[in-house]
Amino acid sequence: MTRTRTGYPSIVCSALSPPHVAPTIALAQEQATDARAIKTEQQMTDDERFSLLISVMGTTGSITTVRDPRIPEGLPMSAGYTPGVLRLGVPALRMTDASLGVTNPGYRPEDKGATAMPASVVVGSSFNPQLAREGGAVIGREARIRGFNVVLAGGINLAREVRNGRNFEYYSEDPYLSAVLGAEAVNGIQGEGVISTLKHYTLNCNETNRHWLDAIIDPAAHRESDLLAFQIAIEHSQAGAIMSGYNKINGHYAGGNHHLLNEVLKGAWGYKGWVMSDWGATPEWDFALKGLDQESGAQLDVMMWRTEPFTEPLRKAHAEGELPKERLSDMVRRILRSVYAVGIDKWGPAPEVDMARHSEVALETARQGIVVLKNDGVLPLAADKPLKIAVIGGYAQLGVLSGTGSSAVLPVGGYAAVIQIGGTGIMGGGRNLYLFPSSPLAELKKLLPTMHIEFDPGQTPAEAVLLAKRSDLVLAFGIRSEGEGFDLADLSLPWGQDAVIDVVASVNPNTIVVLETGNPVSMPWRSKVKAIVQAWYPGQAGGQAIAEVLTGKVNPSGRLPITFPADLAQTPRPELPGLGTPWGTPIIIRYDEGAEVGYRWFAKKGEKPLYAFGHGLSYTSFDYHDLEVGGGETITASFTVTNTGKREGADVPQLYLTEVPGEKRMRLLGFERVELRPGQSRRVTVTADPRLLARFDAGADHQWRISTGTYRVALGKSANDFVLTGAAPLTPRLFGR
Ligand code: BGC
Repeated sequence: MTRTRTGYPSIVCSALSPPHVAPTIALAQEQATDARAIKTEQQMTDDERFSLLISVMGTTGSITTVRDPRIPEGLPMSAGYTPGVLRLGVPALRMTDASLGVTNPGYRPEDKGATAMPASVVVGSSFNPQLAREGGAVIGREARIRGFNVVLAGGINLAREVRNGRNFEYYSEDPYLSAVLGAEAVNGIQGEGVISTLKHYTLNCNETNRHWLDAIIDPAAHRESDLLAFQIAIEHSQAGAIMSGYNKINGHYAGGNHHLLNEVLKGAWGYKGWVMSDWGATPEWDFALKGLDQESGAQLDVMMWRTEPFTEPLRKAHAEGELPKERLSDMVRRILRSVYAVGIDKWGPAPEVDMARHSEVALETARQGIVVLKNDGVLPLAADKPLKIAVIGGYAQLGVLSGTGSSAVLPVGGYAAVIQIGGTGIMGGGRNLYLFPSSPLAELKKLLPTMHIEFDPGQTPAEAVLLAKRSDLVLAFGIRSEGEGFDLADLSLPWGQDAVIDVVASVNPNTIVVLETGNPVSMPWRSKVKAIVQAWYPGQAGGQAIAEVLTGKVNPSGRLPITFPADLAQTPRPELPGLGTPWGTPIIIRYDEGAEVGYRWFAKKGEKPLYAFGHGLSYTSFDYHDLEVGGGETITASFTVTNTGKREGADVPQLYLTEVPGEKRMRLLGFERVELRPGQSRRVTVTADPRLLARFDAGADHQWRISTGTYRVALGKSANDFVLTGAAPLTPRLFGR
C-alpha cells in the first residue's frame, strides 16, 4: 500500500490476493483490475465522479411515498440507487438489503417475495461455512433476477451484548466464527456476480440511540476482537464494499473515523473496495477526508442532520482545494474497482432461479441451526405411543417469527401475519411481529399423524393450564420480537409467556419449550421443563425444521454461537447505559471487556453460564481421542471424532486456546462440523490463525506479538466442556497488518 502525497491510502498498489487463486495469477488480475479502475476514472468528468459518491433511497413510507426524481422510471425500488456512467460502461448501482434474503419493505408491489432465509444467528449456530456460502448464493441469485447488483449483507458485528436488538442479523460473539461465516456468505453472493458489503464497521453492538452512541474500547483489544472479525472476513472474501456503522468509536463517527478507515482498513489491511456509510450516518462532508467513499440514503441525512446532501459541500470543498483531487479520484476508483472485480459491468441475462432449491437451502439451514439446549430423555418424541400433545403459544398455529427492521424479508406468498408493535424513534413505525407461514403445529401434525394434537394460544396461565393438564406432553412456544432500532430491556419473554410456561410446566411434567428469539432469554422455568430447544428466527421453513428436530427426523446439530448468561449480573454490563433514553440522547458505552467478549469474559471471570458458547445436544453421542498438538509458528491440532451412538449425526468439535505463557486466555482457534454414521470416525486437523494466539501491540509497533513459551489448548464440546487437552511451544515472533 502506498501513501499519496496527501497521506490518504490509495488503491494503486496491490496488497491482498483473493483466496484459492495462485498468487502470481491473482496479483496479475489485481493489477489489471486496479489499472482498469484508474483508466475509467481518468476519463470521467467531475460531474460523473461526484454522481458516483452518493446513493439515494427508493420510495419508502418512512421518508416519502413520492418517487425520488433521481431514480429513473421503471427501475425496481430499493434501499439505494447510484446512477452509472453509461458512456464508460459503468452500471448504475442498485442496492438492496439482503442479509437474510432480498428484502422488500413494501415498495415493489409486483415483487411477490423472496426466499426468507433463517437469521444469521441460525447460520452461526450451524458452524457450517459451506452452508453460509450456499445461503449467500441464494441471496445473490435472487438479487440478480431483480436487477440488484449490490447487496447490503454480511453483518458481522459481534454479539457483545445479549440485549442488542440486532444480534439475530449477526453470526456470533466470536471474531473467528463470525469472520469465517460472514466471508462465506459474501463469497456465495459475489460468486453470483453481485457485490456484497460487510457491515457495520465497527462496534455497532447496540441499537439504543445508535446515531449518538459513542462506543469506547481499548484500541489493541479492538484489533483482537471486532476488527479482527472484519480483517479475516475481508481476507477470506474480498467483499466489494464495507458499510460503516452509525455509532462513534472512541469519540469519532464510524463513517468519519480516520484511524479505523484510513489507517487500519485501507492502510494496514490494504483494503481496496469502497466504504459506504450506513443510511443517515453522514452528517459531515469531511468524512470523505477521513475515509468514507460514498454517502448512502442521502435523503435520510437531509432529514436527520438537516445537512445538504454530501456531494454539494463536497463539490465546494473540492473547488476550494479542501478535498484534494487525488482523494476524489480514489473514492471513485474504489467503487469502480469493486464493480470490475465482481463483474457487475458484465452481466448477461439473469440466470434461471430454482426457487424450490432455494427453499431447500432455507430448510437445511434451519435444520442445522436449531440448538437443543436441554433434553431429559423426552426428545425425540416417541412416535410409537399415541400421545395427547398440547401445543401452547407462540402463534405456532400460524408460523414462525422473523426479526424486525431493514433485514426483514417478505416471503414468497406473503406473511402468515403481521402484528404491529410500534415504538419510539424513527424505527418505531416499522417494528412489527412478522410471522412466516411455516406453522410448527401443522408440521407436527403431518409428522405425527397418530397423535392427538391440540392448540392453545397461551393467552393466560389459567387458560393454558386447562389443556396442559389433560395432555400427556406439552410443547410450549416462547417468542420474542427483536429488531433494529431497539435494545431489549431484560432477558424475559414478553406478554406474560414466562408465567404461562411456568404454570404449564408445573401441571405437566413432560413440558418441552421451543424458543423463537434472537438472543438468550433467562428461562426462570428451566428446571421444571424436560427439554429446551432454541430455534431462533428459523426462516420460511422454520416450522418444518422445528417439527423435524422434535420428532427426530432430523438429528439436531446446532451449537450456541452466543453464551446464554444465567443473569445479566454475569455480563460485562449488568446495566445497559442509555437504555430508555429518548431518541437523540448522546450515550456512551464502554466496552471494557475489550477482546474478552462472550465466553472469553465468562472464562476470565470464572462465571458459569446458563448454557455455554458451543453447547448443543444431539440424539447420538461422540467421542474425541488421539489429540496431537504441534507448535512452531502456530498451533496445529489433529484429533479423531467417533460417533459412539446409534444414530447418524453431526458434531462440532471445537479447539480452544486456554493458556498462553503466564496467563489464562480463552480463544476459539478452530472448529469443524463433522457428519458421522454410527461407529464411524474422522480425523480432523485444525490450524489456528496466528492472530488468535497473539496480542496486538497498539503502541509504536502496531504489530502482532507471539511470545515464546508453552500454549495450552483444549478440545471441547463447548467453551465449558473440555474433553481433551494438549500443549505446544510457539516460537516468538512479531508480524504486521
Ligand atoms: C441499517 C443497514 C441497512 C440500511 C439500508 C440501516 O438502517 O442499519 O443495515 O443496510 O439501513 O436499509
